[in-house]
Amino acid sequence: MTSDKPAAGRRLEQMEELVSLCARRGFIFGSSEIYGGINGFWDYGPLGVELKNNLEALWWQRVVRERDDVEGLDSSIISHPRTWEASGHVEHFSDPMVDCRSCKRRFRADQLDEACPEAPAQRRVSACDLTEPRNFNLMLQTRLGASEDAASEAYLRAETCQPIFTDFKRVREASRQKIPFGIAQIGKAFRNEINPRNFTFRSREFEQAELEFFCHASEREKWFEHWLEERLAFHRALGFDDAHLRTRAHESDELAHYAKQAVDVEFLFPFGWQEIEGIHDRGDWDLTRHSEYAGKELAVTDPETKERFVPMVIETSVGIDRTCLALLCHAYEVEDLEGGEDRTVLRLHPALAPIKAAVLPLSKKLAEPARAIERELRRHWNVFYDDSGNIGRRYRRQDEAGTPFCVTYDFDSQEDGKVTVRERDSMDQDRVAVAALTSYLRERLEPVG
Ligand code: GAP
Repeated sequence: MTSDKPAAGRRLEQMEELVSLCARRGFIFGSSEIYGGINGFWDYGPLGVELKNNLEALWWQRVVRERDDVEGLDSSIISHPRTWEASGHVEHFSDPMVDCRSCKRRFRADQLDEACPEAPAQRRVSACDLTEPRNFNLMLQTRLGASEDAASEAYLRAETCQPIFTDFKRVREASRQKIPFGIAQIGKAFRNEINPRNFTFRSREFEQAELEFFCHASEREKWFEHWLEERLAFHRALGFDDAHLRTRAHESDELAHYAKQAVDVEFLFPFGWQEIEGIHDRGDWDLTRHSEYAGKELAVTDPETKERFVPMVIETSVGIDRTCLALLCHAYEVEDLEGGEDRTVLRLHPALAPIKAAVLPLSKKLAEPARAIERELRRHWNVFYDDSGNIGRRYRRQDEAGTPFCVTYDFDSQEDGKVTVRERDSMDQDRVAVAALTSYLRERLEPVG
């Protein structure tokens, strides 16, 4: 849709439209909405869960299944509390924050240039009556068992990788892997973010897909380059173009003290360039610390040289929610059509689209053969059946959901055994024999890249 607004303003306006589409169409909406919501928590509805599952399945396929040097893991969310002492989270995982003495709100000390949500006339937070900054630990705590003493305290994991390190020896021995090899997991992580914002971008509960790749010190750089390339290829295969994707190497003063190098993969969101993935050289920090804290040997022996060493770790850590949000932002378009009309369309890659095909009988009288087609397609994909409203409106509903193909069964179909297949982006239509429909769609729904 054309607009005279400056590009940045229009992008933010589109973000608001997208947030509203996500709620209306059941992609993503606030958790516990009937109680007024809970800040930083989101629920994925029927379309959102399919999108997220497709993205996770693709990551798993690329990172785990297609390789013989990566093993999968699904660890518990709560680990022994010593895990988080060893990892440094108990001591260091904090953001500096300030409290406002008048409205009692809490803000991140590095984000004071924003408008105060309580003040009239757009006053900056920095102009409020603020306390001195103090550190606020971001880990979410819980209690185990009935007692209320310190021994019952535990944490919801702040990143999915720590159990990979504590399970390293067990997984290596069980899978009989030799260095170099990796362990991957997808799962929930929790951070008590002071200021959750930008829709799902900064949440308190989110999903990470992480790979920890263990190698010899002499091969650190080689594997860092390898995984950076692999991960960029993945993001490009999702459909992100160069105008929306870039890398940013961390400056030396940004690096964690144990890290040798780190590169962020950034996406251009409507609210600016932001990190969606980090590729980090974590050195031997994690295994060494867990070895010390647990009193367990985590070094390995090179079977040929007999050298004993603690492996170095190259990590790739992508946020599933942030990537879903990037996919939705990238796919969202309000397109001008001839005759002054417009249509809202989500141009998601077919392999990621929540619904692969919609079956639309032209009339309710054609339900029986149309339902038979739906049943056949459902054996392979997530399919939607819709016989209500005029066909143009039904196409629009599917465009908004990102459905790549609409299959229309009309009165001619009964005569010629063919259906009309309409493609979402071009709106081109093909007449396809019902008997060939599954293979026609399969060819076009091939996995990405
Ligand atoms: N194990 C390394 C690690 O956790 P990180 O940069 O803190 O590194 C990795 O997080 C990824 O997890 C980020 O690139 C981002 O995609 C996602 N992520 C981190 N915090 C998040 C939050 N509060 N909400 C949503 N996603 C988040």
